[in-house]
Amino acid sequence: MSSTANDGLLVGLREIADVGRDAQRGGYSRHLWQSADLELREWFAERATALGLDVETDRNGNLWAWWGEPGDDALVTGSHLDSVPGGGPFDGPLGIETAFQAVERLRQRGVVPRRPVAVVAFAEEEGSRFGVACLGSQLMTGAISPERVRALRDADGVTFADAARRVGFDTAHLGRDPEALARIGVFLELHVEQGRGLIDLGAPVAIASRILAHGRWTLTFRGQGNHAGATLMSDRDDPMIAAARAVLEVREAALAIPGSRATVGRLLAVPGGSNVIASSVSLTLDARAASDEETRALVASIADRVAASEFVENSWSPEVHFDQALASRLTDAIGDVPVLPSGAGHDAGVLSPAVPTAMIFVRNPTGVSHAPEEYAELDDCLAGVAALESVVGSMIA
Ligand code: GLV
Ligand code: MN
Ligand code: MN
Repeated sequence: MSSTANDGLLVGLREIADVGRDAQRGGYSRHLWQSADLELREWFAERATALGLDVETDRNGNLWAWWGEPGDDALVTGSHLDSVPGGGPFDGPLGIETAFQAVERLRQRGVVPRRPVAVVAFAEEEGSRFGVACLGSQLMTGAISPERVRALRDADGVTFADAARRVGFDTAHLGRDPEALARIGVFLELHVEQGRGLIDLGAPVAIASRILAHGRWTLTFRGQGNHAGATLMSDRDDPMIAAARAVLEVREAALAIPGSRATVGRLLAVPGGSNVIASSVSLTLDARAASDEETRALVASIADRVAASEFVENSWSPEVHFDQALASRLTDAIGDVPVLPSGAGHDAGVLSPAVPTAMIFVRNPTGVSHAPEEYAELDDCLAGVAALESVVGSMIA
């Protein structure tokens, strides 16, 4: 982003505008415990300290910045710092920077909170490095086992445990964290909108109603690796053909269930030579639909349509309905703003079975997310800060 474009960013986003830029893909690649993530963690600590907040890292690698003594029934707000490969600058960091600004404004107004307030940055929300999303919040709530997480591998074969060790993070205490969970009285996550809802409605902010059920699978197709020139077309057992058919079937299956979505975002041919017929091809499937049942039906239909040698579930996130009483308190504080569903997963969704949770969306004029074109106007981000300030202010006074 040019310095002119940076001028239109909230101050904290401007400070991190050069961290984790991806020259090859465009946008940002900020993955857990790689250099960009470490830099962003330092930024979080510095930004929080400058605002007079106390920073700590919990046993699952999540960062907390406390206004007042850490304690139970806290109002917690925040999001994540990591990105998808080649992602935009707002998905995640917008929820953290707006939280810092809301706290800053409340402090400047002389508000003395009657309950603890914390800004949180959850670790590995996108699952871009280790394949499973929302690891920090899932570990904290016990939705995923620490043994499984320690053994997850990144694209280079490095385990989560080894990657953590390399940056000095001890995974011995990973796992369900009842103390951290008990401290959260309410969780609010502000997020850039990832679709076109607010463009169509002509409004800067919305409240979330629910999150679609979603999950991730890996499909593997096996064949016979062979020579691209010497092997007759009639003699081939090429798994790329079955994989290519599967990509089309995934689309057909999703089109058959209105409102559902299914995506093949990554495809890996082994061994991956341009003059080599692959011996295996694996692809990722991301499937989402309005309910758990519809999403399961979508995946079952895909499994019926394709001839995969292996079809492995990597993660499953049930449908989420956000807390209605909390949503009404948001409406009382910020007015009658639109209410929108989310096709994207969030740490707020992971936390919602455990604590009252709500989300605020900020308009994205491109309607594009998980890509460099993701955007939010400064005025809309400031409307997000004002909304968060009102909500937090109304719940801590
Ligand atoms: C997270 O952004 C997801 O929905 O994949
Ligand atoms: Mn995302
Ligand atoms: Mn996000």
